[in-house]
Amino acid sequence: MKIAVIGTGYVGLVTGVCLSDIGHTVICIDVDQEKVKRLQSGDPIIYEPGLEDLMKKNIEKSRLSFSGNHQTGLAGAEVVYIAVGTPQNHDGSANLNYIEAAATDIAKNITQDTVVVTKSTVPVGTNQHIKEVITVNLVHPVKVTVVSNPEFLREGSAIQDTFSGDRIVIGTDDEQAAYIIEEINQPFGIPVYKTDIASAEMIKYASNAFLATKISFINEIANICEKTGANVDAVAAGMGLDNRIGPKFLSAGLGYGGSCFPKDTNALVQLAGNHEHDFKLLKSVIEVNNNQPLHLFQKAKQRLGDFKGKKIAVLGLAFKPNTDDMREAPSTLLIQQLLEEGANVTAFDPIAIENARRILGDGLTYSESIDETLQDAEATFIVTDWEKVKNIDLATLEQRMKYPIVFDGRNCFALEAVKTANIEYYSMGRSDIA
Ligand code: NAD
Ligand code: UGA
Repeated sequence: MKIAVIGTGYVGLVTGVCLSDIGHTVICIDVDQEKVKRLQSGDPIIYEPGLEDLMKKNIEKSRLSFSGNHQTGLAGAEVVYIAVGTPQNHDGSANLNYIEAAATDIAKNITQDTVVVTKSTVPVGTNQHIKEVITVNLVHPVKVTVVSNPEFLREGSAIQDTFSGDRIVIGTDDEQAAYIIEEINQPFGIPVYKTDIASAEMIKYASNAFLATKISFINEIANICEKTGANVDAVAAGMGLDNRIGPKFLSAGLGYGGSCFPKDTNALVQLAGNHEHDFKLLKSVIEVNNNQPLHLFQKAKQRLGDFKGKKIAVLGLAFKPNTDDMREAPSTLLIQQLLEEGANVTAFDPIAIENARRILGDGLTYSESIDETLQDAEATFIVTDWEKVKNIDLATLEQRMKYPIVFDGRNCFALEAVKTANIEYYSMGRSDIA
């Protein structure tokens, strides 16, 4: 099967690499010519465990290639995946400009019957719109079928998720197209769920919104635990034993960030609003999430009085471990607040510093060393639960910091362990150790 993938971001690149690895001939197309050059040389650009090796292997086997030209890239493709971004508009709705551009590119360049597969996260009705845009702009009289095939991978475990995800959703009203997409994915051995296009589009938003709801729910419980003396980790563990609830996505913390939960929850609220439905529950989920980083900040302010001239260490910048993605990272809001209050911030991250600098600028010190970051700090914020951070020897905090006061936004340490160390410790939804 000859496959083209439009867009080589997290989703497009991982999809292209994995599809080539199971034997398909894949060409990935991007409008960013600089990116294409680097991809052609085997540089994946983004940090994703396992991606570089798999990519190089399939380039060598001539199953995977890259192009900055739609005409070359789409020539002879039987199936075209759309994996371009759908960022947030000012009003919270999904921006479909890239989708429309990709649909137009397809229409102008395909020369044979084609199945167009939408991997990008798009509001209900978008695949119908894609079909219309293609039909209006078609240059050659060929048949185009549209399939919604939402992506559920997580950054940081994208390869593993692609090879062993929970389900593959295929939404189309065309049986033959559904069969083709099922066959393409067959070597992954993942259960396939077939449905209509609108439901497939909604499954993606509903799944992300539900996971976001779980996170905001446990964060609200954590905030109540702090007031009542309960321990949110114990509460989550006890709740998770109920199979109907499950243990996942019940880690209290600074809230969800990343390129998808924030924008997708907002887009779903907008979509509902467009259909005269006020999605009150999801609006609250978003509000709770927006307040969560500030909750820890306020706790620290109360303890320290003010931040003026104080060296504050921040451990972790990326929105979660194992990625260099800084999009909507909770660290951003927290650090901006600290800088506004006059703190001297030194921030550690093993891989996200380059991306962080683009967002946060040079008003803080960046470090790839935890020891250097902690040295003489008057307080430490833990923002991302990197393994390196979770493995910090608690004695180091006492030895390196000027005052060993820790505000842990990810509950990295067991309270029992902290009690035996000589540090002051404030975490999320658990008793303070002062
Ligand atoms: P991204 O922003 O990282 O990458 C998009 C790429 O598309 C860019 O390289 C851009 O240059 C390219 N592009 C834009 N218009 C193009 C065109 N007309 N032709 C060729 N290339 C074009 O995006 P992403 O994070 O991979 O997300 C893509 C979609 O997948 C979004 O809808 C997102 O919501 C969804 N999604 C993302 C993830 C994730 O973990 N990042 C997971 C599931 C779903
Ligand atoms: C999420 C979904 O998990 C994927 O299924 C989906 O495909 C993707 O969004 C998308 O649509 O882009 P991702 O954003 O990569 O994946 O990362 P997650 O592991 O879901 O974490 C999202 C955020 O929630 C992170 O900031 C993480 O720290 C936070 N989180 C997660 C919590 O605060 N508590 C938890 O229990 C779990």
